Amino acid sequence: MGSILVTGIAELVTNDPALGAGRLGIVRDAAIVVELGASAEAVPGSRASAEAARTPGASAEAPSTRRGMPDGGPASVGRVAWVGLAAAAPPTDRVIDVGGRAVVPSFVDSHTHLAFSGDRAPEFAARMAGESYDGGGIASTVAATRGASAEALRARLAALVAEARAQGTGTIEIKSGYGLTVADEVRLLRLAREVSGETTFLGAHVVPPEYAGRADDYVDLVTGAMLAECAPHARWIDVFCEPGSPHAFDGEQARAVLVAGRQAGLGLRLHAGQLGPGPGVRLGVELGAAAVDHCTHLTREDVDALAGSTTVATLLPGVEFSTRSPYPDARALLAAGVRVALATDCNPGTSFTSSMPLCVALAVREMHLTPAEALWAATAGGALALRRDDVGHLGVGARADLTVLEAPSHEHLAYRPGVPLARTLALTERGVG
Ligand code: NIG
Ligand code: FE
Repeated sequence: MGSILVTGIAELVTNDPALGAGRLGIVRDAAIVVELGASAEAVPGSRASAEAARTPGASAEAPSTRRGMPDGGPASVGRVAWVGLAAAAPPTDRVIDVGGRAVVPSFVDSHTHLAFSGDRAPEFAARMAGESYDGGGIASTVAATRGASAEALRARLAALVAEARAQGTGTIEIKSGYGLTVADEVRLLRLAREVSGETTFLGAHVVPPEYAGRADDYVDLVTGAMLAECAPHARWIDVFCEPGSPHAFDGEQARAVLVAGRQAGLGLRLHAGQLGPGPGVRLGVELGAAAVDHCTHLTREDVDALAGSTTVATLLPGVEFSTRSPYPDARALLAAGVRVALATDCNPGTSFTSSMPLCVALAVREMHLTPAEALWAATAGGALALRRDDVGHLGVGARADLTVLEAPSHEHLAYRPGVPLARTLALTERGVG
């Protein structure tokens, strides 16, 4: 227990407009007090509890966050108790001076596939030489993953989580989807659960080879025995809805998967619009999904549907980069008032990066987001996509997931692409851990 003052912050991004300037709620020459071991509920008037109270459905639709579960965050043992000018900071037990650097909320990576084995560098090289992506390569990762030991999968997962944390990520969603048998999907979800509370059952990733030509039979398995065994280890269910892919699922199959998942108590999310326009985005909106992810190809109707909904459009620019595809029309989404998130989609096929700063830089350079819009999408947007109110911002009551930039302002994330500027600040009883 005890309190820590983090001071010397040239620019503090809170994502709370009540605390500072603009949508990012920026406070300059700032400090922040972290109460170690305090819970959000213990902080009166916290934004977390206030927002939950006035946003019916925001958390109610999604299954509860399992309190006390790790969720890929740093060794976070505290909550934000005070935010303001450094000159006005209250006394605390300990002080950390970050020396004129910027501090932002740790990134919320709301879409990854970190539980896998194998390597598809040759597939990437072939794409760079002109091949296109249709999801067919997923089968090779499924084969490698089925053949890997739990120890090997656990070690790979831990290494990727550590890689993400080292680049400023505090919360990581992790999907299954490279097992595609009941036992293999359960195994992947159990391993993911060891490092994150944000686990997603993606049995409907592709039709596995042993079900070739029998997609509906496989959907019966996914919505039956596989879902029953996997649901206890997952918070979410996802489906690769892509009628244009010979390996993925059409709108009716995706609907069956999502409806069954909802009945099993899981929250809903989709892969949609990656290879071409399709029914996935509107299906997600209709069913109240927390997020539809990719959105590379959108129709006007898709944008309108998203605009009138609470469903977040999660953009994954690492995928467009690594598959040499056109980037989504992010400006059309923002102009329509759609809530946009950015995530890595870290996976061995379409986007083998764990770097949220890279995604921010790509969103700015290639999708024309401002640096502020991109940072918001990578933090607050990711939290909305996971229906979390305790991360993605640094208002009073938030989890104390602080990311320090080796820079004076958040603009440097895109201004200095490829430079390792971001790191999570691990706060322990002794100070910086
Ligand atoms: O989000 N599109 C479906 N799933 C992943 C790719 C998986 C793979 O190619 O291994 C994605 O891009
Ligand atoms: Fe994905």
